[in-house]
Amino acid sequence: MLKYIKKYWIFCLIAPLFMVGEVAMDLLQPDLMADIVDNGVLQNNFELIITVGFKMILLVLFGGCCGILCGVFANLAAQQFGNDLRKDVFARIMGLSFQQTDKISTGSLVTRLTNDVTQVQNMVMMLVRGFVRNMVMFAGGIFMLYQQSPKFALIAACGLPFIVIFVMFFLGKAAPMFSVVQKKLDGINNVMQEDVAGARVVKAYVKEQHELERFDKANGELCDVSLRVQTLLAFMGPCMNIVLNICVVAVILVGGLTVQAGGDMTPGRVMAAITYLAQILHGITFMANIFQTFTRAKASADRIKEVLESPEVILAGAFRGETEVRGKIEFRNVSFAYPNTSGRPVLEDITFTVEPGETLAIIGATGSGKSSLVNLIPRFYDVDEGEILVDGVNVREYDLQALRERISIVLQKAELYSRPIEANIRWGKPDATPWEIKKAAEIAQADDFICATEQGYYTQVTEGGHSLSGGQKQRISISRAVLKRHEILIFDDSTSALDLKTEAKLYEALRRDCPDSTKIIIAQRIASIKGADRIAVLDHGRIAALGTHEELMHASDIYRDIYRSQLKEGGADNVG
Ligand SMILES: Nc1ncnc2c1ncn2[C@@H]1O[C@H](COP(=O)(O)OP(=O)(O)O)[C@@H](O)[C@H]1O
Ligand SMILES: [Mg+2]
Repeated sequence: MLKYIKKYWIFCLIAPLFMVGEVAMDLLQPDLMADIVDNGVLQNNFELIITVGFKMILLVLFGGCCGILCGVFANLAAQQFGNDLRKDVFARIMGLSFQQTDKISTGSLVTRLTNDVTQVQNMVMMLVRGFVRNMVMFAGGIFMLYQQSPKFALIAACGLPFIVIFVMFFLGKAAPMFSVVQKKLDGINNVMQEDVAGARVVKAYVKEQHELERFDKANGELCDVSLRVQTLLAFMGPCMNIVLNICVVAVILVGGLTVQAGGDMTPGRVMAAITYLAQILHGITFMANIFQTFTRAKASADRIKEVLESPEVILAGAFRGETEVRGKIEFRNVSFAYPNTSGRPVLEDITFTVEPGETLAIIGATGSGKSSLVNLIPRFYDVDEGEILVDGVNVREYDLQALRERISIVLQKAELYSRPIEANIRWGKPDATPWEIKKAAEIAQADDFICATEQGYYTQVTEGGHSLSGGQKQRISISRAVLKRHEILIFDDSTSALDLKTEAKLYEALRRDCPDSTKIIIAQRIASIKGADRIAVLDHGRIAALGTHEELMHASDIYRDIYRSQLKEGGADNVG
């Protein structure tokens, strides 16, 4: 964290300087007030009241200007600090592996990027503005009190230890609760994230009430802990006030007695002493607040650090070079388990080779591991055993960007962004010409429906692509993947929402226009993939059979079962 604040050290230095100016003015006021009371009011010296009063106003104005400048510089430091920190946290979140985002959860990442950064930013602000102010207020207050009378300073010195004990007691109890508060915020953000993104599903299943209750529960938990912290801290102020008031009474008593005894004391000085006591207490209360912000920010800073310092789990190699073959994929005895699932393997001993230009289809029940298998190729996850080679080079040896540039993958869930259709497709290749974009859309069978809309390629896609049908979304995602310069094209169940005729046209166009690309196509329907060069049947994470449609019809029971069940379900049409 220090690294971030160092950059703005100059502001952090200037702001407290102005603050010293403001506090100094505050400290001079009571002394002048004593002067007015003792020498002006009590002596009926009108002239002195005017001159000293004028001085006081000037001091207030000067102090105010210092205060404004201090605020400006403190804000400059804190806001820019927060800005830098947020930027770096965001960049790191983008760089997290799938494993890591699975582990921390999206909601928590959102809290860390927003609320946690704000907490730390508040602390910087408090520290730059408040720390010096209150230190000076405190030390200066005691000094000025001593100036009025050493006896008063002694009274303050007796009260101080009690105040310190109170502060330490309450903050010590509150500190561990702050990280719980942040965790509860994660909970709220998790529910919010899921329900806002999945609002349509919630409505479709009439689950609003259920989700409201889930939110209520998370919200209630946050409210409970926050209440407990705040109740605890609410005791702190009054306890400190009691000590102050005892001190004030003591000052009045000692002062009054001294005045009566004709000692070296005036009513104005007793008044000033009470104001200084209040200032000292104000300083201490504020310091306690700073400690509170600090403890709170510490919990947040730790959470931010966890993101910033999360290790690079996917350690990339340096290979960016050219290879002799382009588009060859080899799996050698690959096994894989998700890190957070008690080691149960999702894929076991997978071995196969796809030659350049070949089309391999993968079919299998849901949960058999199809998506997991293709996600290993661009290293969204790393294999546990065995190895994967792309063009004869282990994927671990590639520079991550160089590897992913060779692969164009259409994920199972089509993700579109709120921008025009054209920009969504162009994402695959920022410098693509309009002609290239149209061509890619034609291959993906998207051109027709895009042109049928009023604004064509400039039709705005709403957030999450809700303005489009499932099949349209899939086709735009495919256009994006086709446009990207690729040698390996992976479709993860990407044509499931298309009717068979459109799907057949799409595959035909792919064969014709991208003959050199190696294609891995995951599909549910045998009809979609009958024409593939080879078909792999995945069963519980293992390859149960591998061959052409005809070979599998002879050799694989599972394949024949799938074929027959689809024949029954959709009639001959469904299996082509
Ligand atoms: N991110 C994940 N974390 C833990 N388990 C997962 C994750 N993604 C998938 N799985 C599990 O891995 C298995 C295979 O999933 P997947 O590869 O998506 O199957 P398919 O694509 O064939 O439907 C399933 O049992 C699923 O529950
Ligand atoms: Mg899948």
